[in-house]
Amino acid sequence: MSVAVDYEPVLLTHPGRAIAVSLKEYEAEDGYAGWRHALAKMTPDQVVEEVKASGLRGRGGAGFPTGNKWGFIPKAPGAKYVAVNADESEPGTFKDRELMEVEPHRVLEGIALCCYAIGAETAFIYIRGEYIEAADRLEAAIAEAEAANILGNGCLGSQLNVRVLVFRGAGAYICGEETALLESLEGRRPMPRSRPPFPAVEGLYRRPTVINNVETLANVPAIIDRGSGWYNSIGIPPRNTGPKIFCLSGRVNRAGNYELPLGAVTIRELIDDYGRGVIDGKAVKGVLTAGVSAPILTADKLETKLDYDSVQAAGSMLGSASLIVLDEDTCIVRAAALMEEFFRHESCGKCTPCREGTSWLLKVLSRIEAGRGVPADLDLLLSLSGEITGKVLCALGDFATSPVVATVKQYRDEYERHITGGACPFEQW
Ligand SMILES: Cc1cc2nc3c(=O)[nH]c(=O)nc-3n(C[C@H](O)[C@H](O)[C@H](O)COP(=O)(O)O)c2cc1C
Ligand code: SF4
Repeated sequence: MSVAVDYEPVLLTHPGRAIAVSLKEYEAEDGYAGWRHALAKMTPDQVVEEVKASGLRGRGGAGFPTGNKWGFIPKAPGAKYVAVNADESEPGTFKDRELMEVEPHRVLEGIALCCYAIGAETAFIYIRGEYIEAADRLEAAIAEAEAANILGNGCLGSQLNVRVLVFRGAGAYICGEETALLESLEGRRPMPRSRPPFPAVEGLYRRPTVINNVETLANVPAIIDRGSGWYNSIGIPPRNTGPKIFCLSGRVNRAGNYELPLGAVTIRELIDDYGRGVIDGKAVKGVLTAGVSAPILTADKLETKLDYDSVQAAGSMLGSASLIVLDEDTCIVRAAALMEEFFRHESCGKCTPCREGTSWLLKVLSRIEAGRGVPADLDLLLSLSGEITGKVLCALGDFATSPVVATVKQYRDEYERHITGGACPFEQW
């Protein structure tokens, strides 16, 4: 076992804590210092420039530069909105939940700074319906901050109004897709919008809107308080800066959220040094790095550093950094079928290739898993996937093909053993 990284957390500063950090505690640890500093000493443009200089990239999955996104918001007067993406429905992802449950004021401070930077007076936190505790704690924290005049009308004695509202969703993966989220917030069925126009121009109620992930916004207070230079000293500048919360789950001894600088550890080190290794000392068969939405990495990629560029160079995506570990006893065909079942269920049905294609992929995977596949099924899976990728309205359709394409290409022998043996060669769990 190598030595864990010497690092002082920036986001989850109370590891292991189960109750929310109160306003009093947060302020005692320099909480809202960034907010106070911005209101007293910075223009909104300076806040945007500082976030740009930090190199912060969106933590919701796509890794888009946050400062650039804020800079796209038109300067013309009129209503603008912030929509906070707290849907967190990606399998294996539970970082935003801990942030909202334990560090609600850090999230609120990030939201306030975003509102100030883009000239918005209202922010909606779109939170998945199952996160009852997180939603309750956010509402309690908003009430605390409003009572202390940190949020609300005339924040901190300024002319500024910042209203934060919690909106509880009903639990659908597609609601995390940013334009489906806006549809849902407006009271409609959550089906993604075609773009352009992009939300920065026409978002919520057809007004300019920034949509950011919870973890992304939770990074902003420290950037404003301690400066972009300090932030660049964490991680690997310029494209992989700052702290990242890695959600580790699957066949590991100690699943959980681990906050580390981007690029500080390899996949193997995260599993061994933080997750205390694989259950029963088994070998790793593969690792999903972005929940189920990006190609699986095979065991020979365990030395890959955990940052955006390294994971991409290895053939996958860091995404939300939700690592699911599969061990040597896992049937890869069954794993692919389970992932496809998820996508089939969650497809919103707006595009025919995604709606119909996910059902067909699942059908073919299921028959192979049951030992009823034929050799031509492998090419059929790849060609069906080719009919979906790039031919749909949102990324869910593309995500839905990655468990299939990556596993057929990288574990083809396992598929073939199911077909030639006429049964699953693994013990079923
Ligand atoms: C099907 C689908 C589900 C998504 N789910 C989430 C989610 O639960 N949380 C999230 O922050 N982003 C999710 N995203 C990404 C968002 O569309 C968007 O890129 C993100 O909220 C932008 O915030 P960021 O720039 O701070 O990462 C999802 C995207 C897709 C296509
Ligand atoms: S790709 Fe799938 S989830 Fe996305 S809009 Fe089309 S049908 Fe809906």
